[in-house]
Amino acid sequence: MTPEPPVEAFHDLLKGMAALSGNRIVGDIARLYGKGAPPDLSIACNHKQIASKQWLVEALAETLPRPDGPVWVLGAWYGVLGALLLDDDRLDIGQVVSLDIDPTCAPVAETLNHRHVATGRFRAVTADMTELDFAALSPAPGLVVNTSCEHLDDVPGWLASLPAGLPLLLQSNDYYREPDHRSCVPSLDAFREQAGLAEICFAGARPTKNYTRFMLIGRR
Ligand SMILES: C[S@@+](CC[C@H](N)C(=O)[O-])C[C@H]1O[C@@H](n2cnc3c(N)ncnc32)[C@H](O)[C@@H]1O
Repeated sequence: MTPEPPVEAFHDLLKGMAALSGNRIVGDIARLYGKGAPPDLSIACNHKQIASKQWLVEALAETLPRPDGPVWVLGAWYGVLGALLLDDDRLDIGQVVSLDIDPTCAPVAETLNHRHVATGRFRAVTADMTELDFAALSPAPGLVVNTSCEHLDDVPGWLASLPAGLPLLLQSNDYYREPDHRSCVPSLDAFREQAGLAEICFAGARPTKNYTRFMLIGRR
């Protein structure tokens, strides 16, 4: 078997790609590798993950480019989506709050988004999204993003706990084979039904090799 390339090799390669492309996020990921990245950062940053987040940013730029309050990203993992949201010129987002239940995620997310932590535009929180009282948050969120709906036990129950009228962007998928997935849906229509949003301004499906990802933008 070919041995895995050492982390230093990723670091060097990414620094080169950052210099070549001038892309600030690639530079931030290179920096993170230099500081000791978790092994599954490469999964969080693979081309399929990035493509689904770019799809999200495109759809948001078309529908809700200026959320009226902080954007809460739930099940945010290592904060890659926050980095994309804060870097895109088509969006005007004052602050991203990147929330995950796994306590190892927040330090990685804050290292990745270090430029935005420094300006107060990014913070990471460790919490269970299903335990949060979104109605009590001050300032009120301008948008709540959940790209991990398939990981929840009870998507309708969680949505029912949110304040009516809250702007939402939700993603799920039909990737039933993944053991951590508990609420997959077979189609976009099934996702629409599961979410039961009062208002929908975007609904789309994006097929990939192994599964289809679904996205809804609207209000609870
Ligand atoms: C595999 S990751 C991201 C998957 C998602 N489809 C994406 O591409 O963004 C799922 C994340 O959701 C987090 N998560 C699962 N249940 C959660 C909960 N109740 N509250 C907060 N985070 C949760 C996990 O810790 C994990 O980091």
